[in-house]
Amino acid sequence: MTATPAALASEMVPANVVEVRDMRVWYAGSSNPVRAVDGVSFTLRPGEVLGLVGESGCGKSTLGRGIIGLVPRGAAVDGELRFDGQELLSLPRKERDRLRGAGIGLIFQEPMTRLNPLMRISEHFTEALKAHEKSLSKSEIRDRALEALRALGIPPTRYRNYPHEFSGGMRQRIMIALALALRPKFIIADEPTTALDVLVEAQILRILAEIRTRYSPGILLITHNLGIIAEACDRVAVMYAGRIVEQGPVRQVFANPRHPYTQALLRSVISLATKELTSIPGAPPDLADPPSGCRFHPRCPHAMRVCAERLPAVVNGVECWLTDHEPLPEGAREPLARQEVSVADEA
Ligand SMILES: Nc1ncnc2c1ncn2[C@@H]1O[C@H](COP(=O)(O)OP(=O)(O)OP(=O)(O)O)[C@@H](O)[C@H]1O
Ligand SMILES: [Mg+2]
Repeated sequence: MTATPAALASEMVPANVVEVRDMRVWYAGSSNPVRAVDGVSFTLRPGEVLGLVGESGCGKSTLGRGIIGLVPRGAAVDGELRFDGQELLSLPRKERDRLRGAGIGLIFQEPMTRLNPLMRISEHFTEALKAHEKSLSKSEIRDRALEALRALGIPPTRYRNYPHEFSGGMRQRIMIALALALRPKFIIADEPTTALDVLVEAQILRILAEIRTRYSPGILLITHNLGIIAEACDRVAVMYAGRIVEQGPVRQVFANPRHPYTQALLRSVISLATKELTSIPGAPPDLADPPSGCRFHPRCPHAMRVCAERLPAVVNGVECWLTDHEPLPEGAREPLARQEVSVADEA
């Protein structure tokens, strides 16, 4: 019996746990909306880690918050968000929150929730687990909690302690264990290194690896640290001014960056190591009034006329006119004159 290629593929490749298509998150601004996330697409399979990098203010945390549904009042979220095969953004809010609460875990850049000083750690776990799975017995709750705590390096003997009996770093790890005990299929870890200030990088990587082997969730890992991306991620997405400009397997993107912004980002790290600080010339754009065409064009050393006018198609994960070979009118691929760059910059 011969299976069709499609059947074979669906057997071998696990279905995506998350599919984000053309997502937009716009904040209400004083005059124009702030287009913090403006047309982002990516997918994630179970057990896969996608690293998200980009300079400060490019919209990384906003993307995480948009997915989890924690955007401030007045912010608009648009696009498609499939979680475990179900489209979430078109569901009524209550239903959406319920699905998200049970299936998506978020480790914040700055934790918003705190442990209640009057409740034992055991009570925190009971409360969190009961809220999502009413049928769990007392011993099942205990087993789940201890397993998650152990994964984060908290010994079972501390289960009935109060929050004040732990160090700050341990409390952060308990917060992560609380999120993990729910066995989320998708985890967003927003700068976990910032939150876990007392943990060294190696420990964070160990924890991530542990979470991965134990639970196989899809993980979106937001970080400034390209070293962490290289070590802990399967794929990387590079974000610039609200859009993903390049994504692909980490090895491929790091060895052969195709987008000029990715190239500049990697160069700035290499030169840091060699004590020769090169930063990317120009300032990050104002997201309430982003540049026309490709948003990187005012800072791009390879900018062509077309770059200031139209957004290129995404070809092999890269959104750049150098990669998009669509036939264009004569002159469109001429270098963008410096004069035009500065005018566009000031406009
Ligand atoms: N509540 C808000 N209201 C209006 N604008 C906001 C709000 N939160 C963030 N922004 C703006 O949205 C843009 C993206 O912010 P975001 O926090 O997502 O960036 P980031 O990539 O996570 O940065 P960092 O690396 O510093 O954490 C920024 O220009 C920021 O000023
Ligand atoms: Mg952030």
